[in-house]
Amino acid sequence: MQERLELIATEAKNELIQDAATLEAYRIKYLGTKGIMKEVFEDFKQIPNEEKKSMGQLINSLKNTLETIYLEKKEELENTSTEQSDTIDYTKPGARVPRGGRHPIHIIKNEMIDIFARIGFTVAEGPEIEDDWHNFTALNTPEDHPARDMQDTFYIKENVMLRTHTSPVQIRVMETQTPPIRIITPGRVYRNETISARAHCTFHQVEGLYINENVSFADLKQTLLYFAKEMFGQNVDIRLRPSYFPFTEPSAELDISCFICDKKGCAVCKGSGWVEIGGCGMVDPAVLENCKIDTEKYTGFAFGMGIERITMLKYGINDLRIFYDNDIRFLKQFS
Ligand code: PHE
Repeated sequence: MQERLELIATEAKNELIQDAATLEAYRIKYLGTKGIMKEVFEDFKQIPNEEKKSMGQLINSLKNTLETIYLEKKEELENTSTEQSDTIDYTKPGARVPRGGRHPIHIIKNEMIDIFARIGFTVAEGPEIEDDWHNFTALNTPEDHPARDMQDTFYIKENVMLRTHTSPVQIRVMETQTPPIRIITPGRVYRNETISARAHCTFHQVEGLYINENVSFADLKQTLLYFAKEMFGQNVDIRLRPSYFPFTEPSAELDISCFICDKKGCAVCKGSGWVEIGGCGMVDPAVLENCKIDTEKYTGFAFGMGIERITMLKYGINDLRIFYDNDIRFLKQFS
């Protein structure tokens, strides 16, 4: 037994302890709950009583030796760890930092900005908390106008609301700039709607506005046709259906031909061959007058499109809610 204890002590003194991991391995091997010391104490029970006293002392001293080695090495490592830089292996590959990706809504938004930038549109932005003047009244939607029912509004207090469309940015730009004006206004909008696969209380729009001398409906149509072909492919057609908005006259709904089935009719276009992507029209002179723009001299067109709608068509997504779920499995596909 005595010999064995001496052997253990020598072995322990020769252990190579050079970092936290080998130190911990040492602790487990000698001092751990299933370690060598534990075994020694177990064996001690078998020793004849007359030897117990002397052996006990030897065992205790071994235990002290093992613990001292541990504590000394531990202190040594703690003191040197800050000076370890010269032992770093500079050829080791670095730790990978996980990279995020753009949200699909942003990818499409940026694509839309690029497409319109190529024909001279610049980006304008405005506040998401709007006042009644910019969101409704200046857009030719007076207090008791039935068109206000078209959009369910989140009011913050009287006359202050979350904007229900990006059209108020048109007003802000027309109030502060003189024509020619050629802008698009990408941004988030809010409506008090029941959330479903096709509707959400928050979504994104890109609105366009062009004011100049001699702007006609033909310019509007050509601009939208150019956009549709750039966005969805050169084979795509557009269709304008008569509609109503308080701020445009005449007004139209903008459809693109279904690029999935090539107008033959499928689930996406519900068999019609066409899908709606926005609204448009010639800016109502009353709106121009509200912004002190000379209606004898200037005319203009405006359009508004939903970014979610276009993103869903482009990527074949059939539930709007997935954009706001923050599900990494969905988002990863776009990075
Ligand atoms: N602002 C309208 C909407 O949110 C869209 C639109 C913009 C229509 C510009 C015509 C002209 O529904």
